[in-house]
Amino acid sequence: MEIINRRKRMMSVARKLRREENRTIGFVPTMGALHEGHLSLIHEARALCDVVVVSVFVNPTQFGPSEDFNAYPRDLTRDSGLLAEYNVDYVFAPTVEEIYPPGFSTYVTVEGLTDKLEGSSRPGHFRGVTTVVAILLNVVRPNFAFFGQKDAQQSIVIKRMVADLGFNTEIVVLPIVREESGLALSSRNAYLDDAERQAATVLIRSLTRARAAYNEGEHTASRLAEIVRSSIAKEPLARIDYVSINDAETLDEIERVDDRPAVLSLAVFIGKTRLIDNVILGGTEKQVGANA
Ligand code: PAJ
Repeated sequence: MEIINRRKRMMSVARKLRREENRTIGFVPTMGALHEGHLSLIHEARALCDVVVVSVFVNPTQFGPSEDFNAYPRDLTRDSGLLAEYNVDYVFAPTVEEIYPPGFSTYVTVEGLTDKLEGSSRPGHFRGVTTVVAILLNVVRPNFAFFGQKDAQQSIVIKRMVADLGFNTEIVVLPIVREESGLALSSRNAYLDDAERQAATVLIRSLTRARAAYNEGEHTASRLAEIVRSSIAKEPLARIDYVSINDAETLDEIERVDDRPAVLSLAVFIGKTRLIDNVILGGTEKQVGANA
């Protein structure tokens, strides 16, 4: 496994793999602090592609001024150990200056889709995500890039960008990996103390309640959202940012969950830590890949 810090080196390695060796490249972008969620993406990339490239880069442009960019967990030594165990071929771990050199002034914005949900709570977040992912896709030019359903809106936004800008990369979205408690794995879970960790299971418990109601015939979106809200209200450490039901492909708000898959998503503060989670309702779940 080679760890690469420079864009130019990463570009020339990837070019050689594609052109001279005719090998398919699978790419998994991450911000490090790797857990089983990330590793599930890497596992799939390993199964599907000849060469696996993982990026580890805590991207400053996707954090708001009052967010946790400085506190975000960083441990490249630990991450590299895990990536070597998973037979990753290349780790791309650039510095901030390598990605955003002096004079940097070009950003990628996906309109519309990024106004709601995470976009409305975290202004500028998706502009940072799409900008860095566009840069990374240009450097690596992978055949496949792997993303998690955990960040449902991010996956949809990236798919839109790739289609609109004509990147020659297929986006693969994989199911949410959870702890036994049901808590979705997240690098931010590291911020939780024991009591908060316990409280955080209210996210999946509330989503599961709504799903049970859906399975019993409740298809009205506002009522399903209310089931989630009232269940979270019972947890004193939890404060709701949003609970929303949207079309799983277009993210349009919907009034009823019918044939098309819908994503029931939420963002909840547990103490000071903001967590997100979602489940898919309707349609054929496996297609979209939720496994709550
Ligand atoms: P990060 O939060 O490190 O996540 C990297 C990838 O892992 C994302 O596609 C995310 O959806 C996926 N992931 C995280 N937790 C998961 C879980 N429990 N189950 C399955 N997949 C999970 O998302 C980002 O980084 C950044 O925005 C990035 C795309 C790297 C751009 O900076």
